[in-house]
Amino acid sequence: MSVGRREALDSCRRTEAGRALFGLLPVFLAVLCLLACGKKAEPSPRKIKVGIAVYDQYDTFISELIQCFDGCVQKRREEMTTVLFNAAKSQQTQDKQVRQMIEDGCDVICVNLVDRTAPTKIIDLAKKHGVPVVFFNRELVEEDLFRWDRLYYVGADAFQSGMLQGKIAAESCRENPQVDRNGDGSIQYVVLEGEVGHQDAIVRTEYCVNTMLNAGLHLEKLGYVLANWNRLQAQTQVSQMIARYGDRIELIMSNNDDMALGAIDAYKEEKIERERWPLIVGIDGTVPGCRAVIDGEMAGTVYNDNRGQAEAMFELVCAIGLQEPMERYRLINGKYIRLPYQKVTKENAETYLNRKQH
Ligand code: BGC
Repeated sequence: MSVGRREALDSCRRTEAGRALFGLLPVFLAVLCLLACGKKAEPSPRKIKVGIAVYDQYDTFISELIQCFDGCVQKRREEMTTVLFNAAKSQQTQDKQVRQMIEDGCDVICVNLVDRTAPTKIIDLAKKHGVPVVFFNRELVEEDLFRWDRLYYVGADAFQSGMLQGKIAAESCRENPQVDRNGDGSIQYVVLEGEVGHQDAIVRTEYCVNTMLNAGLHLEKLGYVLANWNRLQAQTQVSQMIARYGDRIELIMSNNDDMALGAIDAYKEEKIERERWPLIVGIDGTVPGCRAVIDGEMAGTVYNDNRGQAEAMFELVCAIGLQEPMERYRLINGKYIRLPYQKVTKENAETYLNRKQH
């Protein structure tokens, strides 16, 4: 075949192929279109809004808890936003705040009730608008929690903290017989009580006392004061007790660390030398609480795992709002998550302090 003829033939084949290809174009386009239409558009990642209502933002334990919760949120910033409200100890204010959160479109609400016996307005509102609520730290009664299947509670078992506090106090009394300063075979004590009606207040005191009695110690109660979990209130009250009882106080049983620290402030303020201080025990294992244990100012405290509670609350919020499976925490009766307490003494206080700070 001559070169000229081969070229003519090739050119003819190319045109035929081109024509065939051109003919297939509509089919090709149709397939492309089908593929494009058939494949659902990627859902844009859902961002949820979480509302948090605290009874008092200046409460040390609660502010540490919120800080931890915030730490969890920071890692998932693209999936959620949060709004925080401080009720400043008014249930009425908190009810209004929850209403506002619902109106603002919050998908999940976490509530640290002011009055744990008055959750009705919040529950009714949440139920009406279908917004699930995770209550935390201030425990509502079971009957209220079971009023709707989308209500939950995250916290701890008060009796356990009292028992552990009693153990710490009993062990310290055994190891240091000089705690019984007047040597009458009985420990004279005072109680710093948290708050009227709070599940952690009365129960902690009761279990602490009973644990000490069961350990074979003799106790004599000199007095008790309500200091509302607050350091300054405790300082004032303890100053008055020092004036009244002086050296007779051998043990101060405090329902939380902040009040125990208030007692220490009072002894410092009164310029009473350390050897004359009574044994002081707290509960919470807050940062300043752990430090006081390390410094030997407090005999011990009980770790109230606010980091664990914040993480559990976060996991629950993700489960409810983002339909994620619960991995680390388990709901008891489909409702409760309770974190265990732990004993903190001079030997392990550093570990707990580090846990808080990382
Ligand atoms: C903590 C206290 C805190 C209170 C607030 C208790 O569980 O031990 O420190 O002030 O909760 O509700």
